[in-house]
Amino acid sequence: MSQNILVTGGAGYIGGSVVAELLSRTSSSIKGATVFATVRSEEQVQRLSKHGIGAIQLDLHNETAAMEAVIRNEIDIIIHTASSAVPSHVSNLVKALGRRRQVGGKETYFIHSSILTMFGEDGGWPSGEVRDTDPLFEKEKQLGTDHPGRATDIAVVEQAKAEGVVTFLVMVPTVYGKGSGQGRRLSVNIPAYVRTSIKLGIVYKFDKDGNPPATHISDLTALYALLVEKILQKEPIPSGEKGYYFAMAHRISWWAIMPRLAEGLHMRGLVTEPRAQTWPSYDMASEYLRWPPQFVRAMGTSSGQQIPINAYQIGWQPKWDEQRFLEGMDDEIKAALESDTVPATLFDKLLSPSKGSTGA
Ligand SMILES: NC(=O)c1ccc[n+]([C@@H]2O[C@H](COP(=O)([O-])OP(=O)(O)OC[C@H]3O[C@@H](n4cnc5c(N)ncnc54)[C@H](OP(=O)(O)O)[C@@H]3O)[C@@H](O)[C@H]2O)c1
Repeated sequence: MSQNILVTGGAGYIGGSVVAELLSRTSSSIKGATVFATVRSEEQVQRLSKHGIGAIQLDLHNETAAMEAVIRNEIDIIIHTASSAVPSHVSNLVKALGRRRQVGGKETYFIHSSILTMFGEDGGWPSGEVRDTDPLFEKEKQLGTDHPGRATDIAVVEQAKAEGVVTFLVMVPTVYGKGSGQGRRLSVNIPAYVRTSIKLGIVYKFDKDGNPPATHISDLTALYALLVEKILQKEPIPSGEKGYYFAMAHRISWWAIMPRLAEGLHMRGLVTEPRAQTWPSYDMASEYLRWPPQFVRAMGTSSGQQIPINAYQIGWQPKWDEQRFLEGMDDEIKAALESDTVPATLFDKLLSPSKGSTGA
């Protein structure tokens, strides 16, 4: 039975919360596993170690170091949350799992975290309904590798096939809710709106509504844990070219969210207007929200017609729906006000230094 699990991005929002979820499992087969987490700084190693987490300092660009970390710690399962759109990271990790498989003589598994909005029109996907049971790998190959997330999905599946590693692709939607890790505890979208609204004194919405797929962080981490359980129990579930899992619990409407944000922030005296206004331009939105110009439209207005099948078929049961999310909007504001202490590095490479320095 596979027992050593490595989570990349252990000081990040999703990775930190996945580590906490795995460590909290006291009654499942996961209980017997040892969980390691990769982080980038010595300070993060210290912080995670204090909480009993086996933290490994590793920059995923470093192929040799990635190989050493996997072989030395006898890693059988990697949950990769550090980067959805960097093919060289997955290549380094999958190669290491391939070597580990040869050395240890056991199956090895790679769970990748990808981007669900790529399967909507703003993400370059053809219009119409798309199910995670469709032949998505073939379609991604046909569309090509212009989108770095798509290039990374393709690299995961192809490289793993070559190395004999079993893969699963968790397609991550807009995630909300306070994380439970020992590093960053906030997601990207709603905290960015809160931060930016306070800075500008106004809540801005886009000129078009978006109804993207969404999931609470606790439901998302439950899906990762479920995949790990299935692996440990050796249950045959879709993997490789068929191993796409749309981690979508429900949809949200930005135009339903923005009035609530405006109300909540106005009540606290943090913005001057109790109603949301429309962004004067997408460029301004990109600059202030600190979202890369090429992604701002998709992040602000995309919808898509994604239909999740696989996750539900293996027994995923999300506990949050749109109504619960909207009713809890004040908690989203509170979490953003209280926990916005670790700056996000997600888009650093895609933003120019001048834009980075003007951001919140
Ligand atoms: N949050 C969402 O709503 C959402 C939605 C769809 C997809 N995703 C994707 O899911 C992934 C995780 O998202 P997140 O919200 O958890 O982001 P996050 O909080 O920024 O976490 C990413 C973590 O990965 C680490 N990392 C980045 N580059 C690395 C490298 N070269 N070597 C080692 N570690 C590295 C970061 O280290 P530092 O702590 O040093 O910065 C950070 O701790 C991202 O790729 C994101 O695009 C997220």
